[in-house]
Amino acid sequence: DLSTCLKGKKALVTAGGTQEPIDPVRYLGNRSSGRMGYAVAQALQEAGAETILVSAPTDLPVPQGVTRVSVQTALQMRDEVLARFTDVDIIVKAAAVADYRPAVQAEQKIKKDGSGRTLELVPNPDILAELGQKKTAQVLIGFAAETENLLANAQGKMQRKNVDLLVANDVTKEGAGFGSPTNIVSFLFPDGRKIDFPQMSKLEVARHLVKEIVNLLGMNVKE
Ligand code: C5P
Repeated sequence: DLSTCLKGKKALVTAGGTQEPIDPVRYLGNRSSGRMGYAVAQALQEAGAETILVSAPTDLPVPQGVTRVSVQTALQMRDEVLARFTDVDIIVKAAAVADYRPAVQAEQKIKKDGSGRTLELVPNPDILAELGQKKTAQVLIGFAAETENLLANAQGKMQRKNVDLLVANDVTKEGAGFGSPTNIVSFLFPDGRKIDFPQMSKLEVARHLVKEIVNLLGMNVKE
């Protein structure tokens, strides 16, 4: 029964695109809507898991029964995730974390002076890779949104980040990726197994993911 199969389990999901401040009124961001992560949180909660959503800014309502922790930047997301991760059984990193942030945040709004400007960027920590190194018994799931060489890039990420399952999607496809209510994904496993799914709603993708999580936790789903 999918409504109770994760009872007693704790899950942490990240979602949305981080915003990296440039000055008090501007930031570097990305096109993530947060929908995929919110759907995953909803599906985990519906399967009985106590679910926390560490979310970058989005317009989405919090799924019923889920606890949201709001963050803006990658560094804030990292702090909130690391503070909780030893306590949870399942981690799904659906957030689009900025790879770089401005080296300094200007204290005042930057004025235009008619000349060009250069913005210096420094790398953000890779939260998922850090979790992959630190993890013990947790089931760790990553997402890979790619615009080219989907499978090769996704497989590389799975190995580098030491995840148990990587959800790969080509964000250039119609009906997939950022902002879309639907997605077209493949699930990749470290043993080389791959499951390709047709286009479906993000909530349906999330429910398939929950089934795989149950398998990875070594339990049986009886339907
Ligand atoms: O950005 P990239 O394609 O490497 O993201 C793949 C996975 O790694 C995603 O699950 C994303 O949430 C995670 N990630 C992260 N911290 C970063 C970059 C990516 O946790 N700084």
